[in-house]
Amino acid sequence: MTGENKKELVVSAIDNGTVIDHIPASEVYKVVKILNLDEYQDEVLIGTNLKSKKYGTKGIIKVKNKFFEEKEVSKIALIAPNATLIVIKNYEVVEKRKLDIPDRVRNIVKCINPNCITNIEDIETDFRIVEKEPLKLQCHYCEKTMTNIRFKE
Ligand code: CTP
Ligand code: ZN
Repeated sequence: MTGENKKELVVSAIDNGTVIDHIPASEVYKVVKILNLDEYQDEVLIGTNLKSKKYGTKGIIKVKNKFFEEKEVSKIALIAPNATLIVIKNYEVVEKRKLDIPDRVRNIVKCINPNCITNIEDIETDFRIVEKEPLKLQCHYCEKTMTNIRFKE
């Protein structure tokens, strides 16, 4: 049995839903948290420190009956830019998408500047991605740059 087959046994196939594959092992639980999967009521399969030919080790999250919205996909991309998003319908792979960090993120990230207008008034945040690796964002309103991101809500 090949390594790939063994992996399939560790994290079994799903019938319908989304697979987030190739997550750095260190980021798996961060992804779980930002997607609020700890409160998700259907099946969630999590694998971490799995062997990967491409990345050494990787994590994988399989969420039954969940199809993520663009906003959620952007959040995943900010944390795990090399992840692959796979949509499963009736046990078949119907879509496979390599993630990419967007050039701009609106109302996803919180500004770290307490005096920023977005932290005082009820307006949507807007960040430009200045650098993807390592990640660096700049607030459209106060122009503060940040490398450690915090998500809204
Ligand atoms: N998968 C799943 N349930 C299914 C079908 C696939 O959980 N019913 C998962 C597989 O475990 C794999 C991913 O979706 O992690 C992609 O499936 P597939 O394209 O068949 O696998 P690979 O060819 O191994 O993909 P890659 O080489 O991109 O890792
Ligand atoms: Zn700001």
